[in-house]
Amino acid sequence: MTRTSLSFVLLLASYVAASNSSATISTASASDSSTPVMSSTSSMGSTSSMSSANMSTSGVTTSVSTTSSMTSYLATETGPLTLPISQYSFTPFPTPTLAPEPPVFPATDPFYPPPVSADPLIIPDFAPAWAAAYTKATAMISNFTIQQKVNITTGVGWANGLCVGNTPPVGNFPGLCLQDSPLGIRDTDLVTSFPAGITTASTWNRALMRARGLAMGQENRMKGVNIALGPMMNMGRIAQGGRNWEGFGADPFLTGESAYETILGLQAGGVQATAKHYINNEQEWKRTQASSNVDDRTQHEIYAHPFMRSVMAGVSSVMCSYNLVNDTYACNNNKTLNDIMKREFGFQGFIQSDWAATMNTLSAVAGLDMTMPGDVTFSSGTSYFGQNLTDFVMNGTISTQRLDDMATRIIAAWYFLHQDEGYPNVTVSSFNFYNPLNQEVNAQSDHYLIVREIGAAGTVLLKNEGALPLYKPKSLVLVGSDAAPPVSGPNEYSDQGGDPSGILAVGWGSGTNNFTYLISPYEAIQARARVDQTSVFWDFDDWNLAKAGNSVIGMEAAIVFVNSDSGEGYITVDGNSGDRQNLTAWHEGDQLILAVAAQNNNTIVVTNSVGPLILEPWVDHPNVTAIVWANLGGNEAGNAIADILYGAWNPSGKLPYTIAKSPMDYPAQLISGGTPADILSINYTEGLLIDYRWFDAQNITPRYEFGFGLSYTTFEYSDLAITTISPADYAQTDLIQNWENGGASPIAEGSTTALWLHMPAYKVTFNVKNTGAVYGGEIPQLYIHHPPSAGEPPSVLKGFTNVEVSPGQTTSVSITLSRYDLSIWDVVRQGWAKPGGTITFSVGASSRDFRLSGTVPA
Ligand code: BGC
Repeated sequence: MTRTSLSFVLLLASYVAASNSSATISTASASDSSTPVMSSTSSMGSTSSMSSANMSTSGVTTSVSTTSSMTSYLATETGPLTLPISQYSFTPFPTPTLAPEPPVFPATDPFYPPPVSADPLIIPDFAPAWAAAYTKATAMISNFTIQQKVNITTGVGWANGLCVGNTPPVGNFPGLCLQDSPLGIRDTDLVTSFPAGITTASTWNRALMRARGLAMGQENRMKGVNIALGPMMNMGRIAQGGRNWEGFGADPFLTGESAYETILGLQAGGVQATAKHYINNEQEWKRTQASSNVDDRTQHEIYAHPFMRSVMAGVSSVMCSYNLVNDTYACNNNKTLNDIMKREFGFQGFIQSDWAATMNTLSAVAGLDMTMPGDVTFSSGTSYFGQNLTDFVMNGTISTQRLDDMATRIIAAWYFLHQDEGYPNVTVSSFNFYNPLNQEVNAQSDHYLIVREIGAAGTVLLKNEGALPLYKPKSLVLVGSDAAPPVSGPNEYSDQGGDPSGILAVGWGSGTNNFTYLISPYEAIQARARVDQTSVFWDFDDWNLAKAGNSVIGMEAAIVFVNSDSGEGYITVDGNSGDRQNLTAWHEGDQLILAVAAQNNNTIVVTNSVGPLILEPWVDHPNVTAIVWANLGGNEAGNAIADILYGAWNPSGKLPYTIAKSPMDYPAQLISGGTPADILSINYTEGLLIDYRWFDAQNITPRYEFGFGLSYTTFEYSDLAITTISPADYAQTDLIQNWENGGASPIAEGSTTALWLHMPAYKVTFNVKNTGAVYGGEIPQLYIHHPPSAGEPPSVLKGFTNVEVSPGQTTSVSITLSRYDLSIWDVVRQGWAKPGGTITFSVGASSRDFRLSGTVPA
């Protein structure tokens, strides 16, 4: 079968509920007892029927369902909370009024973001650009009818447009195309498959994060996509979390910086970015029927932080998630939508629902601005917005002011990105791969260069006993299917939702796209073997351990490739319904490694994994001489791995999460079980102690700690200093003074994103010397240690940068800290405050490899 025809079959399977005989198909029928009776909306298109396709492959069970089922009268301890029907008025929040002040706080247009800086020395102020966009949007809707304004907020319904989400044209407003995914454009052709979020975060390199965002933004614009449905910034709270790989790891600061740079890049490329999934969507199992119960401090300091950084990056849209937060659905949650996002963060854009995550019409009052894809459940032909919203506005249940605010926010975001100025037509056809539209525009450019560089920079060297880099080996053997090209081409399964027969370069679900091409390690290493005149052997059979063992005897090096996959919960692969059932390598990879290590004393392990694996069965095996943690590399994955193996790229990546010795060492586990009627309680009882913070606090030794990663050279740190940066006159000195005296930030609109809180307050400087023999990059990290009375984890990441140094050379490094970086969320005063006592800090090469320590001046 040709690639195109195979892709067509896959695509066909992509948008129908596909299953084999054992699969379950459930459609979401979201309703609850307090919801008024729904009537069909006129804006909905025809109901498309469900069909199914066989997705069984090589004995692995693959089942696909649409969003998990929701039934009426859900059972829970407290029951889902909804807003009572009553008269609500709503006043849109004004745009921030603080005058922009260069050089620290310049007025910024999303097309011209500040240059990449390791320190947030410049805080872009998007308020004037928002204000200008609001003026235009207000003018546009001034003559619109209620129904027209409602149409702006209501998607046209599942599969009724070219994109995965579409809004209709209204007056002079052309309507919007909303399209996945966070790593490239989904469901089309001639686009780039970038490395996943987790790989990007592993670079700890802001310039690469920005470059990836920009390239994706350019591709989206070329294909006419108005709104890219990414980045995804849920935290890796549990190691099993099915979608962790779409995001940026298990630390809020690293995730926040990754989100910030990605959004600045995407929007500079012309597309509107979407910060998703807001909020606490940290596992896939029962994602539409689970309440993440999170205390206010943890919410602010950990889970909301990346979304706050997104707002600071001028993100145009936020997507609320499927789950409940403290027993209220996230898309119906006044606290998280209105209070935190729009009030505290001063968010000026619009909030869209995840697909069929809208729970009722009154969600509009809780802060939801747009319902996606528009229908109550996929293809139901009904909507909570549409005619229902019109009725609610007409009968006064929802104020016209609120409807105006919803429509204004959506149109303002479009003006904010200048999409009124000759934006390209949509040339993706999500539901029909054969539509020539998909090949009309080739958006790839030379973005493969960025893919390859991030693939290498996002690879973490965990162990190296002199095995790497390879230098003209006489013989090499590649073992394991993960080294190989997938048997049936790069797109074996719709949404990559199946057990890969070759290299794992992406997880599964809506966070994927179709590979235009995919380079495997086998192809990259073969090409290199020609140059080096190396004799190459391979054995891609994961299951015949005796054969694998025999194949490596006498070889100069044996490279074993293993992987571990996960994805979005609507697809189940080999019993993994999105989330991983365990943290071991797939295809019994541990046995394969042991079989090879038993016969070859230079066994190099390469992993392509969606998240942490338990490495204990073989990590200390004397014949395992190197471990290369290659994450998910996108369509240049094999080339990037070869670049690391041969030293074309000196490894500089660092782990964005902790690799534990035992699954039970992690602070939280997947919550499973429950009947179809239950709402699960997911209690975030570990509070602030996510990932390494827990290991530190509980004194648990991890196998490889957060922030860890080796290089082919070594670095020495010296000459630490910290100085206070005196605030400029314009920087709200009264608030600074209040904070210095122990006061909390005020309760006000935009209070959490205010300039005085984020401007650089301290400058930490030190030197890094390359003490080895080769050029290399290092990622110095800064961790704050609060006084015990603050109730904080022992160490919290608050700064990092990347430096490249020649052998014998020294480079000076600076990292700034803001007052926000030093603050804790005061639950009683509802503001950011400096804890009493002495704050110290460490600088080093990981969360446990501190090289220098200092004290923040009082
Ligand atoms: C996912 C979102 C995605 C949307 C549209 C949902 O199932 O959770 O991340 O953007 O579908 O495909």
